Amino acid sequence: MADKLIIFDTTLRDGEQSPGASMTRDEKLRIARQLERLKVDVIEAGFAASSNGDFEAVQLIANTIKDSTICSLSRANDRDISRAAEALKGANSARIHTFIATSPLHMEKKLRMTPDQVFEQAKQSVRFARNLVADVEFSPEDGYRSDVDFLCRVLEVVIAEGATTINVPDTVGYAIPELYGNFIKTLRERIPNSDKAIWSVHCHNDLGMAVANSLAGVKIGGARQVECTINGLGERAGNCSLEEIVMAVKTRRDYFGLDLGIDATHILAASRMVSQTTGFVVQPNKAVVGANAFAHASGIHQDGVLKARDTYEIMRAEDVGWTANKIVLGKLSGRNAFKQRLQELGVQLESEAEINAAFARFKELADRKSDIFDEDILALVSDDSVTPDKEQYSFVSLSQHSETGERPHAAVVFTVAGKEVKSDSDGNGPVDASLKAIEAHVQSGAEMVLYSVNAISGSTESQGEVTVRLQNSGRVVNGVGSDPDIVVASAKAYLSALNKLQSKSDRVAAQG
Ligand code: KIV
Ligand code: ZN
Repeated sequence: MADKLIIFDTTLRDGEQSPGASMTRDEKLRIARQLERLKVDVIEAGFAASSNGDFEAVQLIANTIKDSTICSLSRANDRDISRAAEALKGANSARIHTFIATSPLHMEKKLRMTPDQVFEQAKQSVRFARNLVADVEFSPEDGYRSDVDFLCRVLEVVIAEGATTINVPDTVGYAIPELYGNFIKTLRERIPNSDKAIWSVHCHNDLGMAVANSLAGVKIGGARQVECTINGLGERAGNCSLEEIVMAVKTRRDYFGLDLGIDATHILAASRMVSQTTGFVVQPNKAVVGANAFAHASGIHQDGVLKARDTYEIMRAEDVGWTANKIVLGKLSGRNAFKQRLQELGVQLESEAEINAAFARFKELADRKSDIFDEDILALVSDDSVTPDKEQYSFVSLSQHSETGERPHAAVVFTVAGKEVKSDSDGNGPVDASLKAIEAHVQSGAEMVLYSVNAISGSTESQGEVTVRLQNSGRVVNGVGSDPDIVVASAKAYLSALNKLQSKSDRVAAQG
């Protein structure tokens, strides 16, 4: 029987550390549900001790998701570990992932600790964690740039203390595939009790090699867990991408000889959900999930694919969730059909009130747009206005006037804590005027660092999806809004970003 490769998804923890990618508790739960459908083995739901919001998100996910192991990150100290254990209490299968930096640079400059102190802290923390849960993962942060003798000492002692998984992060994305694979191999060969733990790889993508490095860690090093994120989301250039690692191991099973528990047909929905929630748009030529990943534009390729598909295709689009972009619903569709389609798309709304709100928005959209595609439905349920009662700001309506030679003007009606307000302003264009109108009332003082528009289903008839990134007092958030009218989509995105600025308290960084 082939070995199994464990897929550990850290979209909700390491992915969320990407500036602007912060998610609300409900958004995290929605993504966790999609990861469960994908049959991800381990979901790192957050870093419970970093903020109350993260604690609650880990707790909610642990109480709800039953098929995947739920994990919380925790620094190597008793307080963090206790918080993680508390948040994970309701999980069917719980894991604490504790870490401390082991590279000379991090120990000296960041932690200001001696190697002996780090050794002792790693040992005590794993011992403490093992008294609380049976499944403990240990990571030597910046492990790849650590002294190999020192790393062997630390990893040997944490395995002796009961760490069940040893994860070797390339925290700064410095590794090269062959070197990283051999590094893991050396550690496993030199550490006498290495066979008592599962070895794991965690690679960042600063040099564009996170997936290649992870695969080398598996093939050369013998790792049996890969840490990854949907769409490769993560700080700087991101993490190893889940969809690429999964499809590489599945497509080249002849080479890797490993089994996966993943149901790849849910990959595309997961990719879209993460992109629409965070506002991090997937590039068209991204492997597996990019819009062009299975599009054959050149005549020679099209001809080949029509004659025999495997002339130019190594994977089947439908195996990762691509279906023909069919019209699913329209103006006459009822609530039941809508609910059923949501289920087929893997979207589970929490309450009847949320389904009703989403259905009302669907009807409103169907009045303005004859063909409702899956992308439209996913955008609709990612929209904050589906759960307006939970939000500080919520869009109501907008009117704007623009004419060549005249300065555009907009008036926006929105609710603030449930109370309707109207605000208006001039601007350079209708979008600018609308956002200025909102800002004139809210006075957030936030700086806009990104504004982008994307056509959800590719034509001018489609909905516009707008991402707005705001920065205030050192915090960065993304808001996403969608509507066939891009001015309305922009106003929604702006209000969504303001909601996020409001709701997220400061948090401790995992890598400080
Ligand atoms: O990249 C890293 O080192 C991490 C650890 C906290 C595991 O994300
Ligand atoms: Zn990381």
